[in-house]
Amino acid sequence: MTPQDQSKFARGLAAHAPIIPVLVIEDLAHAVPLARALVAGGLPVLEVTLRSACALDAIAAMSEVEGGIVGAGTILTPADMKAAKAAGARFAVSPGATDRVLAAAEDEALPLLPGAVTASEVMALYERGYDMLKFFPAEAVGGAPALKSIGGPIPQVAFCPTGGISLANAQSYLSLSNVLCAGGSWVAPKAAMAAGDWEAITSLAREAAALPR
Ligand code: 3PG
Repeated sequence: MTPQDQSKFARGLAAHAPIIPVLVIEDLAHAVPLARALVAGGLPVLEVTLRSACALDAIAAMSEVEGGIVGAGTILTPADMKAAKAAGARFAVSPGATDRVLAAAEDEALPLLPGAVTASEVMALYERGYDMLKFFPAEAVGGAPALKSIGGPIPQVAFCPTGGISLANAQSYLSLSNVLCAGGSWVAPKAAMAAGDWEAITSLAREAAALPR
């Protein structure tokens, strides 16, 4: 799958909702109710990070939830990409980008949202054919003002910023012309998952889904 087609798919994901939940699932039993709760709240695009032992099983289970579009996050290696695809992930997210990970996305035909922060990193991915990127770690590298500045010389590249984003600051990103959506873990707090408080998660999702952009 070409980088152009991957970015086209990623732009399409952003059209579904302003926020992509970034999920760390430690208990496989949480996967399906969590996905149902987020989809019910209006956030159908779900990024399951490959940071827990059950992440791949969680992706497989959540992929059966009606209305959800489940992808894999924290893709660091070609092996991660292969495993994500095999588990049923519809897209992949990487905190950065390496040649081998980019090649794996093309080989596995899995749309990738690769990470970039500096103008040179953005230019390298744009040169390769990507025009929809992750901006990570958003808050730590300068937040919305930094992303807005990159949009000056490189307006044709759009972003999904993640890292330190919450309901309180999401708007500062979503109001930028080069931001199509943002990612964040705040919509699925650990405590709510542990307590099985899926209604609380649905209402956090509702608030996030209603963010204007
Ligand atoms: C990630 O990939 O870990 C995201 O950037 C999540 O960041 P957050 O937990 O600060 O929302």
